[in-house]
Order: sequence, then C-alpha cells, then structure tokens
Amino acid sequence: MTKTALVTGAASGLGYELSLLLAKDNYNLILVDIDAPNLKKVKSELNIAFKCKVDIIIKDLSKPNVALEIYDEIKDISIDVLVNNAGFGLFGTFSGTDWERELDMLHLHILTTTHLTKLFLDGMLKKGSGKILNISSLAAFQPGPLMSIYYASKAYMLSFSEAIANELKGTGVTVTVLCPGPTKTDFQSVVSENNIDNKIAFNMACPSKVAIYGYRAMHKGKTVAIPGRFNKFLSVLPRFLTRNSATSIVRKIQDKNRDL
Ligand SMILES: NC(=O)c1ccc[n+]([C@@H]2O[C@H](COP(=O)([O-])OP(=O)(O)OC[C@H]3O[C@@H](n4cnc5c(N)ncnc54)[C@H](OP(=O)(O)O)[C@@H]3O)[C@@H](O)[C@H]2O)c1
Repeated sequence: MTKTALVTGAASGLGYELSLLLAKDNYNLILVDIDAPNLKKVKSELNIAFKCKVDIIIKDLSKPNVALEIYDEIKDISIDVLVNNAGFGLFGTFSGTDWERELDMLHLHILTTTHLTKLFLDGMLKKGSGKILNISSLAAFQPGPLMSIYYASKAYMLSFSEAIANELKGTGVTVTVLCPGPTKTDFQSVVSENNIDNKIAFNMACPSKVAIYGYRAMHKGKTVAIPGRFNKFLSVLPRFLTRNSATSIVRKIQDKNRDL
C-alpha cells in the first residue's frame, strides 16, 4: 500500500530536497508551506517527474492553532512520515530584534512542531508504525548570541525529539532529529542579511546531501543525525568547555562572519 508523508517548508531548501527523496520512494505527499508560488511549482515538478499523488496546503505555520487546522483538513489520510522542517533564522541582538518575528519563530519552531507531532503521532501509534523527522540545527548544542531565540528554539527541538524518541522505543514509531550545520539554502541569505558569501561558506553543505543524510537516518530510526565530520566535532566540543566559553566562541564567530 502506498504510504503518505507530510513535509512542512517543502517549497525550497531542505524541505524540497526531502520531498524529492520521498517522491522517488513513491510516497504520496502532502506539502505545506507559506510560499504559494514556489509550492505550486514544486507540485507541478513532482507531478511531471513521479507517479505519486501530491497535495499542497498553503499555510503560515507560525500562527496559533495551525497544526489543528492541517490535521482537521487531512484527518482521513493516514500519515506514515511527518517531516517538521519549516523554519527561519533571525540575526541581531535580542534587544534590537523584532518581537513579532520572534513570536512567529517560537510558534513555528516550538508550538507548531510539537502540536503536529502530537496530532499525527496518535495515528502512527494505533498503526504501530511511523517516522517523524524534526529538523533542528547544529545551533541546538550551545547558546547563540546574536541569534539567541533561533539557537534556543533549535535546542528545544533537539531535547524534545530525543526525549520522545526514548519514550517511543518498541512502539514501531521512530523520531529522528536532523542537526545540519550551515547549508546553502535561502535560509543563509536571510540570516546573513544578503551576505551569503560570508566566512562560514567554507563549511557550507549542499542541501541535497544533507537531505539524503537525514532521510537515511530517519529510515534507520537513528535518533540524532549530524551530517558531516566537522559538524559532529562541533556538536561535542561544548561538552569539553565551560558554558561561558562555548557561548563566547559562538559570539566571536557570529561577529566575524556576519560583519555586525
Ligand atoms: N540552511 C541552513 O544553514 C540550516 C542549518 C541548520 C538548520 N536549518 C533548518 O533547516 C530547516 C529548513 O531550512 P532551509 O535551510 O531549507 O531554508 P529555506 O530554503 O528558507 O526553506 C524553508 C522553507 O520554510 C518556509 N517557511 C518559513 N516560515 C514558514 C511559515 N511560517 N509557515 C510555512 N512555511 C514557512 C519557507 O518559506 P519562505 O521562503 O516564504 O519563508 C521556505 O519555503 C529550517 O528549520 C532551518 O532552521 C537550516
């Protein structure tokens, strides 16, 4: 029987790449994004290239109760794979950044991700199978001055995913949290304020490779997936430093890379 995957933030970047991989594996797709023109283009592209059924839902996932709206819209469809990918970055000192944008980020990264997981997990548990892939970040492993809310929200996603992955052992449902380092997508142009060729570009990964890494980890049921050896090293480095030192190092890197 054909399986169905729901992917958020599917109109570009990692969400688009993950949707391609799912389509190649013959999953029917429900793709969600705020970017209507690009999401429609992705649907047309996938309809031409693959046999799977592609439905799109155009929604701002940073608004309250949006997870329930999506669930109600598709509740007759059994979801086998849930990819919580939609996200964005915001750069600047906490005292100077825009609260409305930060509220949207907290809703999107924390509340919508958690609520979608809760709603679709129920059906997965009843079937005794399902896969959840949450896209966090290398930012999850330490505090991030100049991107404080982004780093903190990604730390939430990592901690939440690891905790429920443990609770779900033996149920047939797995939770994987992908923690990419800098990846060449539209995300970087937003957080770099149009300075995409900033100095972190040396460690900038290709989105298709990051997606393949995360996709395979999800299918293996691995809990934490960190693509790239250097990123794996960076993820454990804070354990050997004081919290203060780790935070200061991130601050120095941010100052240097983003030319504040
Ligand atoms: N790229 C990196 O360096 C990097 C590193 C670590 C983790 N990540 C994470 O990877 C995930 C995917 O990002 P990406 O790099 O693929 O960036 P991307 O190319 O900008 O893709 C993100 C997609 O999510 C959509 N989106 C943003 N806010 C939304 C909302 N409120 N409701 C619905 N859709 C929304 C975006 O639409 P718009 O373009 O219209 O906003 C875009 O289509 C994010 O969670 C990000 O935090 C990225």
